[in-house]
Order: sequence, then C-alpha cells, then structure tokens
Amino acid sequence: MRGAALLLLALGLQQAEGRCVFNRTQEYCLCYRLTQESAGSVIQCLAASAVEFQGGDLEKYADFPIEDLDDSTIDMLGSLQIRKIIFSDLLVPEVLLARVLRFFSYTQVQEMVFKSCSFVGRSSWADMAGRALPIVSLRFHNVTAAALAGREQDLSPLSRWLGALQELSVTASRLAVLPCAVGQALRALRSLDLARNSLGDDSLAPAFCQGAFTQLRVLSLRHNNLTSYSGVCGSVRLLGELQHLDLSHNALTAGTPSSPCQWPATLRIFNLSSAGLDHVLAPLPPALEVLDLSSNRLHAVDISLRSLQALFLSRNALPAAPSIRGCPALHTLHLDNNLIAELPRDEALLLEHLQDVAVAGNPFNCTCGGAGAVQALAAVGCLRQGWPQGYVCHAPARYQGVLLRDVPTSVLQCNPAAVLAPVCTGLALLCVAVAGGLLWARGARPRWLCGLGQREDACSGAEHL
Ligand SMILES: *[C@@H]1O[C@H](CO)[C@@H](O)[C@H](O)[C@H]1NC(C)=O
Ligand SMILES: *[C@@H]1O[C@H](CO)[C@@H](O)[C@H](O)[C@H]1NC(C)=O
Ligand SMILES: *[C@@H]1O[C@H](CO)[C@@H](O)[C@H](O)[C@H]1NC(C)=O
Ligand SMILES: *[C@@H]1O[C@H](CO)[C@@H](O)[C@H](O)[C@H]1NC(C)=O
Ligand SMILES: *[C@@H]1O[C@H](CO)[C@@H](O)[C@H](O)[C@H]1NC(C)=O
Repeated sequence: MRGAALLLLALGLQQAEGRCVFNRTQEYCLCYRLTQESAGSVIQCLAASAVEFQGGDLEKYADFPIEDLDDSTIDMLGSLQIRKIIFSDLLVPEVLLARVLRFFSYTQVQEMVFKSCSFVGRSSWADMAGRALPIVSLRFHNVTAAALAGREQDLSPLSRWLGALQELSVTASRLAVLPCAVGQALRALRSLDLARNSLGDDSLAPAFCQGAFTQLRVLSLRHNNLTSYSGVCGSVRLLGELQHLDLSHNALTAGTPSSPCQWPATLRIFNLSSAGLDHVLAPLPPALEVLDLSSNRLHAVDISLRSLQALFLSRNALPAAPSIRGCPALHTLHLDNNLIAELPRDEALLLEHLQDVAVAGNPFNCTCGGAGAVQALAAVGCLRQGWPQGYVCHAPARYQGVLLRDVPTSVLQCNPAAVLAPVCTGLALLCVAVAGGLLWARGARPRWLCGLGQREDACSGAEHL
C-alpha cells in the first residue's frame, strides 16, 4: 500500500476531487481526480492489473520532494499486481516524469499508456542512466510534447530501457518528423504504430535510416500524409525484418521511382485499404500472404502471387471477379460491394476450393448464368459473411430484390455440376468432373469447360439444360 500511495503521491494526484473505482471483472481500476481525502481509495486498486489515473494537472508538483525508497517500499512495489498504467487527460511536467520513472523499475508494470496528455518543459533523464525498466510497451495517443529533434543528448540516459522496448505507438499526435536517432535507440522494437499523424513522403527516409528499427516486424503508417508508393518503398527498404506494413488511409499514387524499388523480402501482410487507388500499383512484395486492397476505386485486378492466402477487394468498382489462377495458395477472397453481376463458371470451380468467399452486396444477375455459381458456393459452405441477406438479385426484372437464395434452382441450374458439389474440397472437383463427363457423354458440353480452349458454339447446349 505504501508503495502505491507513494507512487501516487509522487505523481501529485492527491489534490483534485475524485476517487478510485475498481471493476473486479475487468481487473481495472479508474482513479479520477483523486483528492488528499480520497487518496486512500487507491487501496482498492491493489488487486487490479490495470490502473488508470485520469484528469488533473501535475505541473504544480514538478518540484515535489521525492526521496529514495527504503527496502520495504521496494518490496511492496515489487509485489503489486499492476501490469498496465494509463495516464489520461493530464498535464505532465517532463521533470516530474523523469524523476518518478525510476520507481517503475521496482514494479512489474509492462505497459504504460499516455492518452490526451500534454508533456510540458524539458528535463534531463540522468537519473535513469543505465537503468532497466520492466515496461516493454509504451503508447502515446493524442499527446503533445516538445519536438524530439535535437534531443538525442537529453534522452541518451534512457538508452538501456529504450533498447529493450518492444512496442511503441504514437498515434493522433501530429507527428511530422521522427529523427534517425530514435530508431537507432529502439534496437529491439518489434511493433511501431504511427497511425493518424502528419508524416509525409519526406519524413520517412530519415526515420528509417541505416541502423534504425533493425528488429521491426510490424509498422503502421495508417492515416498519414503519404502520397508516393515508390517513395514509401524506397524509405522502408532497410527494414530487413518487416512482415506487416499498413499504408491504409493515405492517398497514394505510383510516385516517381528514382530507381526500381524492392520491398523487404520478409513482407507478408500488406494493407493498401482506402488508399485512393484506381489501379494496383507495382511492384507488390513478392512473398505476400495477406493483401488488403479494399475501399479503393479498382476496376480491374490481375494479381499473381504464389504465396497469397487472403485477398481483400471489398468496396471497389470491379465489374467481374478477378482471375485467381495466379494465386494457388489463396483460401480467402472478399469481393463484396463491387459491381459483379455473375461469377464466371470456370473461376467458380476454383472459388469452391477456397474456405472463405464473400460476394455480398453485388448487383447479381439472376438469370441462368453465373449467379448459379453463387448458390453453389453457398451450398458447399464457402460463403461466410452476409449469406443469404446480402445476396440480392438486380436482374432480370422479375427477380429484382429477391434473395439469390430464393431463386428457384431450376432457373439457375445451368451448371448441374455446381449443384452436385457436396463439400468445399477436392471432392467437389471430382464430382464436377464426373458430372461433366456424363454430360459430355450425352453430347452436351457444360459451359464451364468453355474456358479450356473449345469453340463457344460447342457449349451453347449446356445453357438450356
Ligand atoms: C465492469 O465492467 C463490465 C464490462 O465492461 C461491466 O459490464 C460492469 O458493469 C462493470 N462493473 C462495474 C461495477 O462498473
Ligand atoms: C486530445 O487531447 C486534448 C488535451 O490535450 C483534449 O482536449 C482533446 O479532447 C483530446 N482529443 C481527443 C479526440 O481525445
Ligand atoms: C501534407 O503534405 C502536403 C504536401 O506534401 C503539405 O502541403 C500538407 O501541408 C501536408 N499536410 C499535413 C496535415 O501535414
Ligand atoms: C487494413 O486497414 C483497414 C483500415 O485501416 C482495416 O479496417 C483492415 O482490417 C486492415 N486489414 C487487414 C487485413 O488487417
Ligand atoms: C443478365 O444475364 C442475361 C443472360 O446472360 C443477359 O442476357 C442479360 O442482359 C443480363 N442482364 C443484365 C442487366 O446484365
């Protein structure tokens, strides 16, 4: 208790009105504007795993005398269950923060969050020299602080701790520059979230300079001020371990590549959602497993990526399903909310081998045609989201507004093979082949074989089966 109260006292939270409320189910304790009288209520927080200190102004405590801790206090701090501390809606003098941060070296706090805080003043962090902290995750959201540029010397005593930090996020904080030295200090960082800032094309290359963020796996640059695809590619090329890159919500164009750019070969997950794209930009990282191109203005997509497993093309302007022949490892394909009237039947056979297909919200043509392939996909359990409510016929007039599910099979049954397909596996293909063979024997070639280089008129018989 003394340790916790001391921590609190040091943070000067004992002045304003308020108290702590502990939510046992969430193991979460919220201390709102604590007063001297209500400071005792922090005792409730001792069983919490997360404590939030909300509201107040610490500026007047910048000179608060903070003494060294005695052994029993250190023991107490070490026995606290608290793993996460959140400071929100606070004015934080950097001097005070620099002085209390060392207390955390005696705790087991792993995650520290600052939400809607303003850091004021500058401080030397000399007290922290050579000290390790248990905090591996540090988050800032909607904060204001003095610019980092030129502060390398001030912050150098933190290097032991920063060198062990694993996750950093600085979001919605108008960040426009990230000095090279920051990335060089964050030697072990695996995840960096810089979403909702003001980073422009020119800010990236210095931030990801030689020797910076050498262990980085996950990088989010979502919702910034980036415009050049090739520029971003050139700037992150030194991140040799990068696996996941989020560029969504930037208005990207191809840019003017000074030299052909190669994305890090380690890149597996690439998010280009809401990036204002009217065509797929090149090159794509060659070993991608997940590619999100949703919410763009794409009219055509032609992608061949051998290891691609999930492709998201929702909310575009595609008039037809893209060919997936170049993506043999694909198991997830989302095409919802495009302008697709039917699925080509030869592709539909490929689609049946996927585990998760979404085609809802398209203007289906429910005549004898590819809409039958959609029913077949549903029958084999490939359609996950939105079936059946999201699948509505737009044509012909007599089925307008009718759920595709409710259109009589006889109307759609142009492809008996699709109706026979029982499961979403190779078995389906086998059945289709057998059914096709039987039809063939009867002299009527099913239309789905048209793609295999036969003359179109040879197939027309299947149309009226
Ligand atoms: C604790 O949190 C849960 C989940 O958010 C909520 O349903 C419950 O009402 C909270 N309990 C108290 C006492 O606030
Ligand atoms: C951001 O923080 C400021 C205080 O620094 C606060 O007034 C504002 O409401 C916060 N904005 C959001 C969206 O939380
Ligand atoms: C975004 O970048 C453009 C040009 O690069 C610049 O004019 C604009 O001020 C930037 N916007 C923000 C919010 O930083
Ligand atoms: C891509 O980013 C968007 C918006 O930022 C998000 O909603 C979506 O879940 C992300 N996609 C993936 C595959 O993570
Ligand atoms: C629907 O498909 C049929 C047969 O393929 C075609 O004749 C018709 O024009 C299509 N209707 C629309 C609105 O695309």
